Parts: sequence; structure tokens; C-alpha cells
Amino acid sequence: MKEEKPIAQNTNELFHPSPEIIAQANVKDPEAARLEAAKDIQAYWAKRAEELDWYKKWDTVLDDTNKPFYKWFTGGKTNIVLNALDRHVKTWRRNKLALIWESEKGEVRTFSYHALNREVCKFANVLKSMGVVKGDLVTIYMPRIPETVIAMLATAKIGAVHSVVYGGFSVEALHGRIEDSGSKVVITADGGNMNGKKIELKKIVDEALQRSGAPEHVVVIKHLGIDVMMEQGRDFWYHELMTLPISKNGLKCETIEMDAEDPLFILYTSGTTGKPKAILHTHGGYSVGVHATLKDVFDLKEEDRWWCTADPGWITGHSYIVYGPLIAGATSVMYEGAPTYPYPDRWWSIIEKYGVTIFYSTPTAIRGLMRFGESWANRHDLSSLRLLGSVGEPINPEAWRWFYKIIGKEKCPIMDTWWQTETGMFMMAPMPAQPLKPGSATKPFPGIDADVVNAEGKSVAPGEEGFLILKNPWPAMMRTIFKDPERYVKTYWSTYPGYYFAGDSARKDKDGYFWVIGRVDDVIKVSGYRLGTAEIESAFITHHSVAEAAVIGLPHEIKGMAIHAYLILKAGNEANDTLVDDLRKHISHELGPIAKPEKIEFVTSLPKTRSGKIMRRVLKARAQGMSEGDISTLEE
Ligand code: WT7
Repeated sequence: MKEEKPIAQNTNELFHPSPEIIAQANVKDPEAARLEAAKDIQAYWAKRAEELDWYKKWDTVLDDTNKPFYKWFTGGKTNIVLNALDRHVKTWRRNKLALIWESEKGEVRTFSYHALNREVCKFANVLKSMGVVKGDLVTIYMPRIPETVIAMLATAKIGAVHSVVYGGFSVEALHGRIEDSGSKVVITADGGNMNGKKIELKKIVDEALQRSGAPEHVVVIKHLGIDVMMEQGRDFWYHELMTLPISKNGLKCETIEMDAEDPLFILYTSGTTGKPKAILHTHGGYSVGVHATLKDVFDLKEEDRWWCTADPGWITGHSYIVYGPLIAGATSVMYEGAPTYPYPDRWWSIIEKYGVTIFYSTPTAIRGLMRFGESWANRHDLSSLRLLGSVGEPINPEAWRWFYKIIGKEKCPIMDTWWQTETGMFMMAPMPAQPLKPGSATKPFPGIDADVVNAEGKSVAPGEEGFLILKNPWPAMMRTIFKDPERYVKTYWSTYPGYYFAGDSARKDKDGYFWVIGRVDDVIKVSGYRLGTAEIESAFITHHSVAEAAVIGLPHEIKGMAIHAYLILKAGNEANDTLVDDLRKHISHELGPIAKPEKIEFVTSLPKTRSGKIMRRVLKARAQGMSEGDISTLEE
């Protein structure tokens, strides 16, 4: 038996990297890098921007004349595709693999940088032929397949703006996002494989488009080969469009020169109230931010094989499956399906098969796989791994230990990265050459100034809980909420004027390590997925039997948080199991399986404030058997 090494769990114990890890790290002294950047943030980001190609260099690093509408690298001309593809295909990297993709069924497809660029150029020409021009919105609703990446890059290449909607969302969620964005084109597939099931995406698109807001065209990728309805004049097969002699250029398509501040994409995410907000990111600053963070935190090297298990439909996928790794000229692994299909060793078999060196995943997935026991991992050679990563929610010590020991064999540091759809890039994260504390995302990335404050905006003492804020702007920050700049100011910059309000509670210990606790708003993180109570409640109300609905998140062993719903039924409806079943199906159909409530309870009244606002805090306290005063006042 191997002797068990103790793993630090409290704030006094640090977990030190080995000398070999420090010796090979891109950043040998993270503390020095942080101090250096803090001295002159603009000089720091200018230096990081110099590492990329530009059509024309910027005039101003940071324009803060109209706070909080910060602008970065103004006067600069670029396009994220210039750095993600164009500059690589001019070098030996044209022959390097950009993408290794495996379907759930085991089919493998690979793309060199040359091949990926060719497909992107062809599809960019297709989009142009459909009349898509700079500034147009394109919705991408896809399974996890290479065409998702191709569609995103092709859209960016011609200066259009993509809005990727996670393929696990369903009719109403998709409809709302297509309509709000005003997309000209929707790109989808006939369907995708997930856990042995076929998810019929085109069918969901058809239903969503019946609810109005129809785009001009729908492009459909044939992935499953199932029967789908094709509306003449509106719907086109991707494979047919790709073989048309679209332009005399054929395989060539020029990348459009963009201003650094021109929009690259919007991404809908849930917030406190009402409909999801479209977070807007731009070409210039975002390129710089994802590039710098991936290179430093995950220590990316030319020889690495990088695997981020997220879905391109979330910010993690945008920044660290698509743009970050391609800007780095890295080789990425992408897998279509479920980690447990056909057996709970699927992920470990993929690591072994492709020799993955850096593996970035989520606490919820680790907890889920842990429960099958370590033998599934132990039957695979995982010795190619050198770094691990975690994102989406705090990682609990038990999951950390299992990940570290069973997957990383006690030699791979775990990079716990704290960030958000809004931040675009890691805000807090360790670097490999730095001591870790399991469960802490450690310290802010160079150039980032974070703090924990009380309700009055004063820094709290070490170890005390408070609100997490960011005091400086950063290049990959969101620029606004698409079509709703007022909400941008109100949500993020008004609680503590001048500072970015993250919506999380946290503690900072005496060593300056941050411990993120969780959301303080009505956002629920279910298996790391971000959902809003308001969106779920509205979906309940559209069911014929429901008069009123309140939704809260309660702790769950694997999912982190699970959705609990309290419903008041309309008169004449009987509260029984059939109705519960029907309601769960309804939510799944409207929003997607991720929003399915764990538990539904029928009640005759809901606790409300005098103005009629539901007091979810009270529901939470009751459900957890606490007095209402026990629940942190932070929740108010
Ligand atoms: C929220 C943002 C950006 C990646 C995916 C999530 C929580 C994220 C961590 C972490 C503790 C974390 C926060 C944050 N969160 N990473 N390492 N430790 N909490 O993006 O969907 O915009 O959610 O996820 O609560 O505010 P998102």
C-alpha cells in the first residue's frame, strides 16, 4: 500500500508544487507577476497584447472616459480569427492538429489548422451568400460537434456576431434568445447524441420558430441522419451549401478587419430578474484576455493536448474550447457525449487514447464520476496528464482529493478558476508554480484587483464573509448587455459605484487567498449550469394548471444545487404524481432537461413582501429546517 499524503484543507496549510513543475512553468514566479502588473495595469495589458498579431496597433490601451463603458485597445484593428487561424496557417502549424473530435458513438474526426481554416473559409462564404454582413446576428444551436467551432469562427471572420445557445436548452429558451437577438440565420443540426439518446435539435428549432421571430434562413448539419422537416426557401443542408460553387474564391475568404471594440459575440446568461441578459464581448480585448489567462494559468505549451470538457454553448466553451486554445495554436480534444456513456470510464479512456496533458472540468462532473468508484479510472493509463482544472462552482475538499489522487496521481496541480460569463476570462486562478489550497481559486490574475466587502462597501477582515467585487477593468470584460445598457450599469456597477459587483459571496484569508462561497442573487448553479429563478418560474406559469410559482436552489450532493419548486395550482386542478410528472416534462420541453426541478411541492400560499415580491429566502430557510434568521442576510 502506498502511504497516504495529507492534503491541505485549511487556510494554514499550503500545497506546494514540485520543483519540476516550477522549472517548466510559463510563469515561474506568479507573485512577482502579480506585483509587476499591479504597478502599471495598462503597461501590463499592452505587453500581453503585443504577444498577438494586429492589423494595426491600438492608440489607447484603456479608454475610461465613459465609465463603466470601458474600451480597450481603441484604434486597434484586428479580428479574433486573425490570431486563432490566419497567423497559424502561415507557419508550420498549418499541419498541426487543431481539433481531435470523438462522437459519443466513437467516430473520430481530426482537423489540422489548415483543414479547419479551409472549412471556416467555405462556411464564411456560405454565410456571405445568404446576405450575412458585418454586425448581423447569427444564432448557433448545436450539439458538441466540430461544425459548432466552424460556425463560430466563420461568423466572426466576416464580422458578424454569434449568439450560441446551449444545445441542452429547449423550445422557449431558444425562442426567446433567437427573438431577442434578432438573428438573421440560425445554424443547427438534425440532432445530437447524448447518453445514448438522440436529441432532435431541428425539431426544437422548428417549434421555437413557430412562436414568431423567424430568421431568414436555417442551416442544418446532418449529424444523426434522422428525418427532419425542411421548409423550402428557409432551410438548407449544410453539406449541400458547402459543395456549391459559392464564389469564385471557393476555399478562400478574407478575414474582415474589425475595430478592437467591435462586437464578437453575445451570450445569454441568467440573472436576478426577468429574461436572460445578452452579455456582449468584443474582438480585441477578449482575444488578449483569453490568450493571456490560458497561457499563464494552464501553462499551455506547443506539445500539449488540451481538453476542456465544457460545451461551446457556455462561456467556458467560447473562451477555452474555441478561442483561447486556437489563439495558442494548441491541439484540443472535443467529445460529443456523456462522461458515463457507455460506461463511467469514457472520459478516462479519452485521456488515455489521445494522450491528454491538461484536463479542465467541473466539480459536479468529478462528484458524479467519483460515485462509480476509482476502478473505472484505474483501468486507464492517465500518465500523460500534467495539469488539472476546475470551474463553475466551489470544489469541495472530497472531490478535490479524489481528482488530485485518482486522476492526477498526486502529481498534477489543480487550477481552480473563478470567473463568469461576464468576465470572459479567468479572474481568480492559481498558476502551476504557486502553492494551492484545495477549495480556493487562490488569487486574482495579474492586473485584476479583487476584494471582499460588506454592505457598505468596506473591506471585511480576513476570514469574514462578504461580497466579491472587482476594482479594475480588464480587457475581456463584457462591454454591455446587448440592447440594455441601463441594466448593465444597474446590475454590475451600481451596488458599489466604480466597482464591478460579481454577485458572489466570498472570504479572503490572511494569506490573501479567496474562497468563493456562492451566489447572492437569484441565480442557481445546477451542475455548474447557470439558471435564473425568474426564467423557471415563468415557464411554470405557462402550464395550464399553475397559478403561481416560486423556485429556489437547495444543496445537492452531486449537482451542487438542485431546483425546488413551490406551486400554487389554479382551482380545479388536483395535486398528484401525474401532475408532478407532467410539470417536470413541461419544464424540460420549455427550458431544457437541465432546468427540471428536483422536487415540486404544491402550496396554498407563498411568503411575500408587502409589495408582492416572493421571499425565496424564507422558502429556503423553511426547506432547510432553519429559522429565517439563520439564513445569511447576504441573500436579501
Ligand atoms: C458563476 C458564474 C465561467 C465559467 C463557468 C461559469 C460560479 C464559477 C467558480 C469557481 C467557485 C465558481 C460563481 C460565478 N463559479 N467558477 N472556480 N469557484 N464558484 O460561468 O455560468 O457565468 O457562472 O459560477 O458563482 O459567479 P457562469
